Amino acid sequence: MAHDWSGRVFSTDLVAFQDDFRFRSIRLGHKLDRHPLFTPERLTLAAERAVSADGGTYFHASAGLTRLDSRFDETNALRPFPELIANLRYLSAWAKLSSLDSFDSDYADFLSDAISDLSELTGQPKSAMSEKHITVFMASPNVSTPFHIDHDFNILAQIIGSEKRLCVFPPNDRDLVTQEEVEGFYVTDMSAAKYKPHLQTRGNLYPMEPGMAVSIPPLGPHWVQNGNDVSISLSLVMSLPEFDRRAKIHQVNYHLRKAGFRPAEPGAGSFDNAKANFLTMLSIRKPMNQRELLFSGVDRLRLPARVLRGIGRHWRALSARN
Ligand SMILES: [Fe+2]
Repeated sequence: MAHDWSGRVFSTDLVAFQDDFRFRSIRLGHKLDRHPLFTPERLTLAAERAVSADGGTYFHASAGLTRLDSRFDETNALRPFPELIANLRYLSAWAKLSSLDSFDSDYADFLSDAISDLSELTGQPKSAMSEKHITVFMASPNVSTPFHIDHDFNILAQIIGSEKRLCVFPPNDRDLVTQEEVEGFYVTDMSAAKYKPHLQTRGNLYPMEPGMAVSIPPLGPHWVQNGNDVSISLSLVMSLPEFDRRAKIHQVNYHLRKAGFRPAEPGAGSFDNAKANFLTMLSIRKPMNQRELLFSGVDRLRLPARVLRGIGRHWRALSARN
């Protein structure tokens, strides 16, 4: 039975959310368009604080992309000056304020409320969630965020601008993003997932407007296309151990494929535990951040070619035992 639910920040159908947040996009409501922390003036103040704290880390701007099949590294970085936010209408720019809670304490209180909501929505304890942070995305008219996948779970909430379209595709459709592309994403290339226009109809298209949010499942491909309006939106992100474990399986699969095997994707074979444990064994024992958590193991794997041959031997030994 479905229950309507309205939390501190978001509102949606609670039962559907707990059942489905890993597998499909879900629409939510919010009131952030009337929240004093998310006016252009307050965000400009946050941008000033970001620049003072460490401009390059927390405030990033680049020339706007317009094609859905662009790579992120096609674009040029712009100087992230705080007045950019007030001038987005006259520019062709894309900008983000990352981890606002880490340099502006007002946003830390907001994040705490949002994470409480997320815990109730997903049925996951806060202690299980990692990488909890908020990012504000800002875009000039007609700027796009190309087709891509992300490791984390994400709720994208529209705050300003009502001409934006968000399209979210199913995360487990291997026609849309092949197994090799997911493996490449986790090892060598953040833009490995390629847009396939002939499969566009498999996506759910959301016309975004203030007060509306959409949850995007981890590894759920998506693109964003802005209309004739400036867009400001908030992204609330978190990860769970099950997503991190799956990433490690994909990373081992990448190397098994390079060694000539055809590995089963996570959940489809008998060796998931062996693969995840193998990479955990290679990883930094007490990771300080998500980069170390997800990539320290595979970084060690990538270095010497002899290790690749070692995996082949390890894998053959495992196969022989079963
Ligand atoms: Fe994304």
